[in-house]
Amino acid sequence: MSDGTRLGILTYRPNHREIPKDSMADQQHNAYLPGYDQVKHHEWRTVENSAAYILPELQNRVAANPGLKLLDVGAGSGTITVSIAKYMPEGHITACDLSEDIVSRASKHAEEVGVTNVTFREASVYELLQTFGENVFDAVHAHQMLCHLDSPVQALAEMLKVVKPGGVVAMREIDMRMWSIYPNTATMKAWLRVQLGVHAASGGSNEAGPSLIAWAMKAGAKRENIRAGMGTWMYSTPGERQVWGKSPLPHSRLLSEHSSPGFSAARWVWKCNNIRIAAWSAPVNATLRIAGAPSCGEVIRRLLQTRKANMNYPGTSFRDRITNGEMRKKALELQLASEAELDEMGEEWQRWIDTEDACCGTMHGEILIMK
Ligand SMILES: C[S@@+](CC[C@H](N)C(=O)[O-])C[C@H]1O[C@@H](n2cnc3c(N)ncnc32)[C@H](O)[C@@H]1O
Repeated sequence: MSDGTRLGILTYRPNHREIPKDSMADQQHNAYLPGYDQVKHHEWRTVENSAAYILPELQNRVAANPGLKLLDVGAGSGTITVSIAKYMPEGHITACDLSEDIVSRASKHAEEVGVTNVTFREASVYELLQTFGENVFDAVHAHQMLCHLDSPVQALAEMLKVVKPGGVVAMREIDMRMWSIYPNTATMKAWLRVQLGVHAASGGSNEAGPSLIAWAMKAGAKRENIRAGMGTWMYSTPGERQVWGKSPLPHSRLLSEHSSPGFSAARWVWKCNNIRIAAWSAPVNATLRIAGAPSCGEVIRRLLQTRKANMNYPGTSFRDRITNGEMRKKALELQLASEAELDEMGEEWQRWIDTEDACCGTMHGEILIMK
């Protein structure tokens, strides 16, 4: 595909940044385009549904070193972080992110679900050495952060500096091109082209997943010390589809979405005409439950008590991003689509959400680097 090729209903400009990664390393780094509010939808994520590849390695290391120290970089809402924490009850996680707002929200989340072995703090991945010092952590983890950065190699090099010799750096990154959607309508295809165009133009990489090995090697890791795989996401149940849209219930408001220690799937609580509707799935595997983990009902009760006050659910999903958000603004600026085309994409996402047999998913690269 070449710049400006007419494809479907849109003009596609696939790669506004043919600039090689890290040629901008000494310039100011790019902002996180989706916006910090948007990260709230990441609360669907857990280590089991988004980073299961780290668990065998983590569990082996925890068995040998129960007091293991882990750094989670770009932790966002912190739901993956707190779900990792249950696998290392005697260990400690330091979780960092760029934004004060998101760090305090993540911290609140940990408090709400009763996880006490995680400390959240503001720090940039580009300043890990300066912030934490050299060879400090037994493990360093990042999920879907490098794909947003203009200098992923520089970021990875920082992660390698703060992990101890013998430690492990783990990361999972999306291959944005691989969003696989059913029903795969012309409008959905056009939406994906906009998504790719906006993401690339904002300094991120659409090919982060399969670039991880190359980035790690550029950051100084030896090929023989890298283990690599690919992992997927799948959104198909009503609750999962809802992650990408607004509430389909009239006059309803999402009160919380949550996954808790001991459970591996999202829980949903809605308020519809003053009636609370709760839905959650059973624990996938009873052995995942840990002693003392709150029950699902208890988690929801606590969330309802503590979070009612700030339960407005700001623009978080693909649907929201395309109908009003930074992504829409950027798509218009880049002339990737017209207002009417973007509106149609928003409606198409809503139809997708309301369609019982609809689903979508994507691929991720996953690597473990042994230092
Ligand atoms: C897609 S979110 C992923 C959040 C979390 N890891 C997850 O998967 O749920 C990307 C996160 O990276 C953070 N981020 C972006 N640039 C960063 C930087 N330079 N240093 C640290 N975090 C950064 C953003 O604030 C955002 O929370």
